[in-house]
Amino acid sequence: MSMGCFPIYTRILLTLLLCFFSTFFSSQAAPYALRISCGASKDVRTWPTNTLWRKDFAYTGGVIADATSHSRSRITPPLSTLRVFPLSEGPQNCYIINQVPAGHYAVRIFFDLVADPNFDSEPLFDVSIDGTLVDSLNAGWSTHDDERVFTEALVFLSDDSASLCFHSTGHGDPAIISIEILQVDDKAYNFGPLSGQGSILKTVKRVSCGERRPMFDEDYGGGGLGGDRFWNSLTTFGQSSETAIFGKGTIQRTSLAPNFYPQALYQTALVSTDAQPELTYTMDVEPNSDYSVWLHFAEIDPSITKAGQRVFDILINGDVAFKDVDVISMSGGLKTALVLNTTVAVDGRSLTVSLLPVTGSHAIINAIEVFKIIAAESKTFYTEVNALQSLKNALQLPRRLGWNGDPCVPLQHPWTGAACQFDNAKKRWFIDGLIYGLPKFSSCAAHPTSGIRADYD
Ligand SMILES: *[C@@H]1O[C@H](CO)[C@@H](O)[C@H](O)[C@H]1NC(C)=O
Repeated sequence: MSMGCFPIYTRILLTLLLCFFSTFFSSQAAPYALRISCGASKDVRTWPTNTLWRKDFAYTGGVIADATSHSRSRITPPLSTLRVFPLSEGPQNCYIINQVPAGHYAVRIFFDLVADPNFDSEPLFDVSIDGTLVDSLNAGWSTHDDERVFTEALVFLSDDSASLCFHSTGHGDPAIISIEILQVDDKAYNFGPLSGQGSILKTVKRVSCGERRPMFDEDYGGGGLGGDRFWNSLTTFGQSSETAIFGKGTIQRTSLAPNFYPQALYQTALVSTDAQPELTYTMDVEPNSDYSVWLHFAEIDPSITKAGQRVFDILINGDVAFKDVDVISMSGGLKTALVLNTTVAVDGRSLTVSLLPVTGSHAIINAIEVFKIIAAESKTFYTEVNALQSLKNALQLPRRLGWNGDPCVPLQHPWTGAACQFDNAKKRWFIDGLIYGLPKFSSCAAHPTSGIRADYD
């Protein structure tokens, strides 16, 4: 072998090593992502992103049905099956997904309608994640192309499992088309001191200003720890006088931790005009709740070239949230992303973001995100839940009794007959009478004070 061969072998070897290491390290760093096509009997891939959806598993009951052909919502994943939870199987049914590593996740559940002409009613039901009620569907959800066709929440999952439960409210049978559990950065959407394990952020609204069609992070070329957010398109704030701008060049400071916003989000914006110098965006919200508001800016308007030329105040429901916002000076330059977040308490049923010019007569905005802040419920001691499940199996109780998920939470939907009490020290629920475990239950009837009462209806 001549000496000249060495470099070639070395290069091949190096390439192989590099391939090996990059695969090794990228798989180490890859965020957890699980997508389920509910009702599907085999794995499915969807166009155009080639997204993998696992075949259906982890459900506690229900039946398979065909989904409508998505004539109503264009943003629902193009999957063809559903899992329907008939009321006859009990008022609460769940997906209990195990082996989800403890962490911070974007959990998203799309609903859909059953493809049956006689099955026209739109089901209305409650949705809980790990025992916290995160959504109650409102009439009309199925005829929209927005956040109403899914529930999405940022949650911290512990205990290696995620329980997603659907609580019938007597208006039709819950029908679920897909579930996504996508890991996000531990500090994603950190909104201040109350942020963390004790809070859940439920997505209320996410709009990309000046964008012409709805986009997911993946459509924007984003990915990784972003959670594949859905961005609805917003071409006007309602006054129809704004100008949509597009700036194709590179935007600085995008795709950064902890939120990893895609660059393309900042390449469109809405700018006010002389006819309507103030930009005002109003959305419906649930009253008496706290909201986390995230506002996105990048100066992509060629008519603005340096700091001081465009300054505006930002008001939320009439109160100044940010004064004298100068995007160029705050972000550090032209075409540079600026993200502002604030928390507001809302008493009424609407949340209004207003941008009022201070210097220069026009305001600019690239995107808006609004989350409802929900206090995460404490769960019931695992041993208690386990004991109840064993009891249910031992007694061969019918499915209708639907003992799935957590017996004590959400507080709005406890299991019938479970007398729950809170252990303040351990921050966990327990069931009165069950504290010593199952044996006490083998003689249920002899214990009138036991936690399980006889009224199972
Ligand atoms: C959001 O705002 C809070 C309060 O001002 C701040 O502590 C936090 O760091 C901000 N979050 C991000 C991700 O910028």
